[in-house]
Amino acid sequence: MGRKNIILCGFMGCGKSTVGALLAKKAGMSVLDLDTYIEKKEGKTVSQIFADSGEEHFRALEREAVQELSEKRGLVIAAGGGTLTFRENAEEFKKNGVIVLLDISVETVAERLKNDTTRPLLNRPDKDEAMRELYEKRLPLYRSAADIIVDADQSPMQVCMKIMSKLSAGYWGSAPNPARAARP
Ligand code: S3P
Repeated sequence: MGRKNIILCGFMGCGKSTVGALLAKKAGMSVLDLDTYIEKKEGKTVSQIFADSGEEHFRALEREAVQELSEKRGLVIAAGGGTLTFRENAEEFKKNGVIVLLDISVETVAERLKNDTTRPLLNRPDKDEAMRELYEKRLPLYRSAADIIVDADQSPMQVCMKIMSKLSAGYWGSAPNPARAARP
């Protein structure tokens, strides 16, 4: 059967992919980045999908990918920044997984994304304002989707260890929690 999936959610730049890779390695699971999964399936980057077919089409592809991955187990899934703002995606993922919010401050996001050009939603002249507005709108949605919330204004390794210790003993089953086992 394998363990339930661990789904990482949070705003663009919160570290979902980086923390996801670390977490998968530590927990002996496989990692999958939702955007990369969509890109491979479509043979296009997320930016190209937005440019060619618009956000609505991207959201439909994203929903399809969520449905496919919810059938699997034992994965650490780094979601996209918008994925868990849709109730149906959260419900789908919860069937077979635990949703973890990487809670990051808007200041850290602004700093991390200031030179980024790969996020179509922020590729606009009023980038900073648009980002803050989107952040405010999304935060309550992320919080209500999440089963576990961790402070993500720290190093990826710290965030990873926090997630491991916050996942309940029940999650790890009879095997010891690797976060505790790693302690001297
Ligand atoms: C999006 C975030 C992106 C990507 C797409 C839309 C969003 O993922 O899915 O550009 O709506 O916040 P990252 O959070 O990995 O950048």
